[in-house]
Amino acid sequence: MSGRGNRILVVDDQESMREFLEIMLTKEGYQVLVAKDGEQACRILGEEAFDLVISDIRMKSVNGIGVLKKVKELSPGAMVILISAFATPETAVEAMKEGAYDYIPKPFKVGDLKRVVKDALKSKVTPGREERGSKSLFHFDSLIGESPQMKKVYDLIQRVSRTRTNVLISGESGTGKELVARAIHRLSERRDKPIVVINCAGIPETLIESELFGHRKGAFTGAVADKEGLFDVADGGTVFFDEVGELSPLIQVKLLRVIQERAFTAVGGIDVKTVDVRFISATNKDLEQEVIHGNFREDLYFRLNVIPIAIPPLREREGDLGLLAQHFLEKFSLQMGKDIRKISTYAMDILSHYWFPGNVRELENIVERSVALETSNIVLPESLTLSSLRKGVEEKRRRRGDLGPEGIQLDEVLQGIERGYLNQALVMARGSRQQAAELLGITLRSFRYRLEKQGMAPEDDP
Ligand SMILES: Nc1ncnc2c1ncn2[C@@H]1O[C@H](COP(=O)(O)OP(=O)(O)OP(=O)(O)O)[C@@H](O)[C@H]1O
Ligand SMILES: [Mg+2]
Repeated sequence: MSGRGNRILVVDDQESMREFLEIMLTKEGYQVLVAKDGEQACRILGEEAFDLVISDIRMKSVNGIGVLKKVKELSPGAMVILISAFATPETAVEAMKEGAYDYIPKPFKVGDLKRVVKDALKSKVTPGREERGSKSLFHFDSLIGESPQMKKVYDLIQRVSRTRTNVLISGESGTGKELVARAIHRLSERRDKPIVVINCAGIPETLIESELFGHRKGAFTGAVADKEGLFDVADGGTVFFDEVGELSPLIQVKLLRVIQERAFTAVGGIDVKTVDVRFISATNKDLEQEVIHGNFREDLYFRLNVIPIAIPPLREREGDLGLLAQHFLEKFSLQMGKDIRKISTYAMDILSHYWFPGNVRELENIVERSVALETSNIVLPESLTLSSLRKGVEEKRRRRGDLGPEGIQLDEVLQGIERGYLNQALVMARGSRQQAAELLGITLRSFRYRLEKQGMAPEDDP
């Protein structure tokens, strides 16, 4: 469908109308966000970009014309359709003068509205894109990128955001896991409640229970008053467990209970509190491997991982590098008050051969540094931080199997390849070595020997 993925903001102070439009437009394949009045709409418009805004005219404080003006100010590329039961020629004229695409009197036929929406989006220069500087950017919520891999991710985000299903986001560091978690929350009906981020690696074991569940006065030394936990705060919203693979076994058990029963007890308390939260977790570890090796509870894993979203590393996203680089370039030039519009072709060429172990975050840092260092109005290769880049270029070449003039360490390379396959086979065979060995066309004995040689055999290996 042509309109698929276009972002629409619906503004109406009447709940039934809001819901009707939301359901109808979502069914049409659009990505819909709603605001309950003009003020909320203005706030949302300040934070996010839309392709189309549909607003009621008659609203308290900020009315439809006010919303229209805000749209023109904040995202001039977006179309605006106004709706009102009190259509007077004057308001219609004013609306058109202020730049509305169309004006629809209530009551309207659903078919008519659908058509106007479609036409409005079609008349946008490039739907789903925002003209900025020299290049247009494709975005979904705050995520940038239009590779097929990322479009799959957007599609999943859209689908899971309508449900309460627990989601496990996996991906190398810096791939955008937190951005994805926030997008899911923002697109869900929980958006008005908080998303509470819990960094599982950052809270000491002794504190985590009290942090999560709260405590009663006198529960332990220092508990001088009752304290709410993060689950209290997140009620009705979303809990985001970042680096979930770092949870200690003790906390894993406690969490399992909360997830199964949606209930918990404060430290030192007796009454059981129920909570309504959706759990999103993120990990840059291979959590399945952690389960196989006994570091992560299998039951908890299955509870958290109802829907997996795997974010691909930057190096595998065809075509996104340029978009992201341009986005960061514009962001940092603006921030630093510089007028750098372009990354030179040669600099881009170097970037496109880089391996990006730190993914999008690393790209962001590289561009930030180069904008700070650059004295001309174009990013030249000299201002890219080359020491780390060179290493990455070599690594990428090595993975491709090219032999560069600097040569390679054949043994190391071969061992790396072997490790990769052993690992994959174990995962695919869900830990069964016999099957893993078969997948690799070697005997069980040889498989064991190789695991040991690579230091990959668990300690209790017979
Ligand atoms: N698709 C994207 N579009 C725009 N910015 C992105 C995108 N992906 C990541 N970023 C930016 O890259 C940085 C890292 O993103 P984020 O913190 O979401 O990654 P992460 O996977 O949680 O990383 P880590 O594993 O290190 O915690 C942030 O500044 C984020 O804004
Ligand atoms: Mg993160």
